[in-house]
Amino acid sequence: MLELKDIHFTIRKGRDEVPLLEKISLRVPTGHFMAIVGPSGCGKSTLLKLIAGINQETAGSIFWSGRNLSEEGDLEHAEIGYVPQFSIAYEGLTVEENIECAIRLRAETENREAFDLLVETVLSSSGLEPLRDRSVSVLSGGQRRRLSLALELVTDPVLLLCDEVTSGLDPKSEHEIVELMHRLSRNEHRLVVNVTHSLASLDLYDSVLVLDSGRVVYHGPPRALEHYFSIEKAEDVYALLAKREVGEWARSWDKHHLAYYESYTDKPVVPANISVSAVTPGAGAQFRALFSRRWKIFFRDRGQIFLQLAILVVFPLLVIVFELDGIEQVRRLSEARPDSLEAIQAERDVLTFNLNLGGIVSGLVMFQVILLTLMGSNNSAREIAGERQIFEKEKLGGVRPSVYIGSKLAFLAILVLFQSVWMAVFVQSVCEIPSQSFAPHLLLLLLVNGAMTSICLGISSFARTADQASLLSIYLVGFQLPLSGAVLALPEWAGWLSRPFISAYWSWAGIMDGTERDYFRYVTEVTDTWLSPMWLAFVVLTGHVALGLFIAYLGVKKPRWDA
Ligand SMILES: Nc1ncnc2c1ncn2[C@@H]1O[C@H](COP(=O)(O)OP(=O)(O)OP(=O)(O)O)[C@@H](O)[C@H]1O
Ligand SMILES: [Mg+2]
Repeated sequence: MLELKDIHFTIRKGRDEVPLLEKISLRVPTGHFMAIVGPSGCGKSTLLKLIAGINQETAGSIFWSGRNLSEEGDLEHAEIGYVPQFSIAYEGLTVEENIECAIRLRAETENREAFDLLVETVLSSSGLEPLRDRSVSVLSGGQRRRLSLALELVTDPVLLLCDEVTSGLDPKSEHEIVELMHRLSRNEHRLVVNVTHSLASLDLYDSVLVLDSGRVVYHGPPRALEHYFSIEKAEDVYALLAKREVGEWARSWDKHHLAYYESYTDKPVVPANISVSAVTPGAGAQFRALFSRRWKIFFRDRGQIFLQLAILVVFPLLVIVFELDGIEQVRRLSEARPDSLEAIQAERDVLTFNLNLGGIVSGLVMFQVILLTLMGSNNSAREIAGERQIFEKEKLGGVRPSVYIGSKLAFLAILVLFQSVWMAVFVQSVCEIPSQSFAPHLLLLLLVNGAMTSICLGISSFARTADQASLLSIYLVGFQLPLSGAVLALPEWAGWLSRPFISAYWSWAGIMDGTERDYFRYVTEVTDTWLSPMWLAFVVLTGHVALGLFIAYLGVKKPRWDA
């Protein structure tokens, strides 16, 4: 039995408190199928999110099987199935793979047989058996809704809440999905609630709740709806609601509702031990599921692989091509040293030559660093924002934000490792940047890519959309070069203000500090910018990586439901 007692829900708009739901009281037994209908904006989704525990009521209490959810804590993750209106499956995976992943993330199974059995049960009870190998990207609207429902069945939830899962479907598909939900509700432990605009297929429901402007105006059997409102067919109810003033219908229902509830025959309360049907898997199992799914999606997306490969090959080449002339000069000097230093000194324009050389070494490294920051932003800008709604749903289903960030970290670390090592080794083998030791040089390149990847992951976790995250990340990369002070010196105060945030500066300055002393002298001659010692560069860049991950964790933890 689900019971709502005098629920109020208000939000703050500036100084005003705006009520979205008022005085909602209702009781529904298990084994029941309820529709929530009402005009657009009347609060249907808001009510559903309250029941799901996504929104917190301002006043009143919600009870499940006699347990006060407001005081004794929400239902377990596995007890609730919430099907939002948007698609919650990964396009690049098949129907079966999506279901398998949902099981790994949300329902612990004892062994392989139990796992396979659960996959089969979910496939057959949702009618998706014939489509199991089909990629989600080619599914029809109705089939996608079916899959969304199927993904919620992996935990065998006692409360299945569906928001507009039939909207936008043709009448036949709509009827099929309503029938599926009806079938799922024929289970003595389960209550199925469906929010809908449509008043077709109403007779499949056990009860209909009509909301208007955040108030209940009717809750009863569908066949009594026409009688209560004195209308010929249920569809006329919307036009009728608009005719009377806000609140009038609600007041009239206040007078009549008791008679209806007394006619309910209460079913026995389900004992708690039956209601928890699945246990959320541990962090390790969730990590493996998320990590392997990420790679699967990566390898299925040809465009993504092509882009990554192109960047991997073309960026280091760019560095070499642009610096081709300069490389010769560096080479000449490194071959000439130390014996023929005098020979160089004999040159009339030795000063210009040195300055030139300092500029070339500095430019070469800066170019490498900037391209690595660009790779970093490309790695992670869309990573979270692009799948935010799916993650929000999975978080409700019990996926831990820390594990999610951990899986992203592991995936991105591999990309960063490949990109940075290849860039460093390839460019070094051609250009022979005169570092005292290659290891710290390589590590600083790794760190700048890691720092930008991590900070853009943070941006991605707070952005509204993937496009917004991409744009912000690109701006961030765009500011790296001018604000680094490597090309044009900034006014001193501006340099000190901006430098702490510019990863490219630290990587560049650290590498400069590690160049052979002669070169370091030339570099200091061509730049007015303060050059950080190498150890400080390591500290700051590591700080950037940690900060980005921390921001990403906060962003992921914060609830963000747009639909
Ligand atoms: N977080 C929020 N901040 C401000 N307004 C909100 C918020 N959530 C909902 N609303 C407002 O509350 C009202 C009810 O929203 P809700 O999404 O519940 O409507 P609905 O009945 O589901 O409508 P539809 O049928 O169009 O989906 C709307 O006017 C909406 O703009
Ligand atoms: Mg809605």
